[in-house]
Amino acid sequence: MMILLTGGAGYIGLHTAAVLVEAGHEVVLFDNFSNSKPAGLKRLEAIIGRAVPCVEGDVRSRQDLDGLFDQYPIGAVVHFAGLKAVGESQAQPLRYYDNNVGGSLALLAAMQRAEVRRIVFSSSATIYGNADSNPIPETAALRPANVYGRSKLMVEEILRDLHAAAPGWSIALLRYFNPVGAHPGGLIGEDPNDIPNNLMPFVTQVAVGRRPELQVFGGDYPTPDGTGVRDYIHVMDLAEGHRAALDWALRDPRELLTANLGTGRGCSVLELVRAFEQVSGKAIPHRIVARRAGDVAACWSDPSLARERLGWTATRSLDDMCRDAWNWQRNNPQGFA
Ligand code: NAD
Ligand code: UFG
Repeated sequence: MMILLTGGAGYIGLHTAAVLVEAGHEVVLFDNFSNSKPAGLKRLEAIIGRAVPCVEGDVRSRQDLDGLFDQYPIGAVVHFAGLKAVGESQAQPLRYYDNNVGGSLALLAAMQRAEVRRIVFSSSATIYGNADSNPIPETAALRPANVYGRSKLMVEEILRDLHAAAPGWSIALLRYFNPVGAHPGGLIGEDPNDIPNNLMPFVTQVAVGRRPELQVFGGDYPTPDGTGVRDYIHVMDLAEGHRAALDWALRDPRELLTANLGTGRGCSVLELVRAFEQVSGKAIPHRIVARRAGDVAACWSDPSLARERLGWTATRSLDDMCRDAWNWQRNNPQGFA
């Protein structure tokens, strides 16, 4: 039996593939390379010591999906494929709903035709929006403040409706907080196109000399040092969280489980910059500028449900995240290019 990773050539997909293969799973990746490069697959092969099948195709295509399910004995799906840039989602809502919601609908229909009823879905902490308090439990109100977040919430609701109508499904909705870092070997990591939107890849690109300075968006938040606070989670911990969710789904619990994947610890922008400087020995020139529209002051998880239900907990520290992010960027100044 094989595990299908849609969007498997992307940042989280590659790391999860490495963890799943090392745990003894057979995987097949499926990606349209809209935000990833085939070069990443070669690196994955170098890590695990053998080729991994990867099919080029689009989750919105019935033909591509049916061909995939016909060709491989797929028993469960981890659904990463999607677009994830918040600003872009506001400017291109139809593209985001088409890809993220339409793609998920097409995938679920193909799974139903193929009688595959186990899915782990990449949701996001962004669906909590501006939460009333921290840490955020799964029961908090869901009020995403952007198109990207609404597309994730829509897919969660589709999956809840599907489960209510067809209880044979085992469904894990994983709400990621802020994934950062890289595989410790430095062969795979985050490789954003254009100017990074996210903090860690921006910091590593400053460190490697690709950008002159970091702009810190806002120094007047009601947080200990005035800068935004987030729950950064090492991508290898996140990948292990997928392994735990998949093992849960493979036991056929026929339940729908919603779990935060975070560390439960908040870290400010300046704390992250200081930790990175310490670990890398590189100064990160930075300047506090105006707040970024749509940002919340602070957001961190209550990760206890994942510990109780999946037996998973994040173990890697902020220093580990910085060290591995830097190791990747230093060895690959231009990413996979
Ligand atoms: P990524 O862009 O690196 O990976 C997504 C992959 O999906 C890419 O390889 C892309 O080419 C592929 N893809 C996109 N649309 C597709 C389509 N229609 N058909 C086939 N493949 C398609 O992003 P990531 O950081 O690895 O994120 C993976 C998932 O996790 C996404 O769904 C994202 O929304 C979600 N997520 C990410 C974060 C984060 O900060 N990285 C946080 C919360 C949730
Ligand atoms: N930040 C800066 N400068 C930058 C980039 C970011 O100061 O150049 C700050 C932000 O203002 C924020 C913090 O760093 O305070 C983290 O910002 P990111 O853009 O790295 O992450 P966000 O929390 O804004 O959002 C990310 C993903 C979303 C995902 C969310 C989940 O971009 O897709 O985490 O919590 F949904």
